[in-house]
Amino acid sequence: MDCLKAISVKDASELNGSIVIQGSKNNVLPIMAATLLCNGITRIYNCPMIEDVRVMCELLNCLHVETKYENHVLTVDTGCSCYEPLPYELTSKLRASVLLLGPMLARWQKAEIGMPGGCAIGLRPIDIHLEGFMKMNVDVKLYRNVLTCSTYYLQGTEYTLRFPSVGATENLIMAAVGAKGRTILRGVAKEPEIVELCKYLMHMGVLMEGVGSDVLIIKGTKELSSCDYCNVYDRIVAGTYLLMAAALPSKIKLIGIENICYIKNIMNVAALLGVNMVHIDNYLSVESFGNVQGGIFKTGLYPEFPTDLQPVLMTVLAGAAKDSTLVETVFEKRFQIVTELIKLGADIDVKGRNAQIRGGCHLQGHTVKATDLRQGAALVVAGLMSSGYTTITDVSYIERGYEDIVRDLQGVGAEISYI
Ligand code: UD1
Repeated sequence: MDCLKAISVKDASELNGSIVIQGSKNNVLPIMAATLLCNGITRIYNCPMIEDVRVMCELLNCLHVETKYENHVLTVDTGCSCYEPLPYELTSKLRASVLLLGPMLARWQKAEIGMPGGCAIGLRPIDIHLEGFMKMNVDVKLYRNVLTCSTYYLQGTEYTLRFPSVGATENLIMAAVGAKGRTILRGVAKEPEIVELCKYLMHMGVLMEGVGSDVLIIKGTKELSSCDYCNVYDRIVAGTYLLMAAALPSKIKLIGIENICYIKNIMNVAALLGVNMVHIDNYLSVESFGNVQGGIFKTGLYPEFPTDLQPVLMTVLAGAAKDSTLVETVFEKRFQIVTELIKLGADIDVKGRNAQIRGGCHLQGHTVKATDLRQGAALVVAGLMSSGYTTITDVSYIERGYEDIVRDLQGVGAEISYI
């Protein structure tokens, strides 16, 4: 990762062109972890070439899993995999490293892994993951950033998640595959990434009921066959560009949008911001006058508006004609973008989980700092909206999840480059 890299972006008077939407980060990471549940070769198509995928490959390599990446196809060979502890130096680079716990327990009945890292957007505890494992007969110990989990055998159980955590749901599903008997998980997350993981596991031979609902029943299954998987488009990357189109006069095509229902929630918000959208074949045709009026919005669990797009929405509202309110209900500290937007001339007041965004502000280019993945991408959008030039530093955060945001925005005519 090149921490010194920065992006320079000039204000755009209009956006015109097309962007091919990359494969989904949050979808592919649990699928990569789940390959551990079988012995053999899995090809994952439409895999994005991003830093988080690279780190996940390194973690799998620690477990003697072979990985090869070519032309957006990731080949994972678990044939020679064997148990090893996973070092904190690697696990701390990635929140999704915690998703290896479930498959490791299912396969080897033990896992010693360093605590996960990831974007600093709140406390991000893993108590729900661990409570679920304990219900499955797992002994859990935490000592100096290293988590040790072990069990004689995973026991199918009934467990109600106190909050529908995406990661905990994924982890517990994967552990349940290796458990004796049936596991009933109540209050699970219903995000598209959960549905896709379940579909992949069912292809491997796992029997499951309730996919897409808040109760999942998983039958422990020993013999799984490896099977290939085609990754879905990244709904958050697509949403970034959809919301960006609201802020500026735009006529753009977002290509690679197969299953439109995964972004209906984002399209609803974009429509309220004045964006016209038509879905044809595999692309979304997007047009707007770039005339955002403001409004009242809140993030929530799927199918509500995703928290990952809250910084982009905040940015768009910072350039609106009238005042807006934005409420963050998922992560308690996800307003890091505010200090940077204020440097650009925005007027935003945060109280707890509520942000009041004053309308009618003129945004002026400045140097701003990316401090997490989604906030960083939102700052690039802010650069397009601010007069003159804006420099975004610490671009490595953006590269964790966006394959090449500069290439994408050049595709719609933006004057943007790495410096
Ligand atoms: C995933 C996504 C992330 C997205 C988030 C919410 C990946 C790799 N990351 O993160 O981009 O923003 O879902 O849609 O897919 N919580 C607990 N205890 C736990 C687990 C979570 O209290 O054991 C809380 C968290 O602090 C947070 C909330 O639950 O406030 C949501 O977290 P969770 O759904 O687990 O998010 P992640 O899986 O980490």
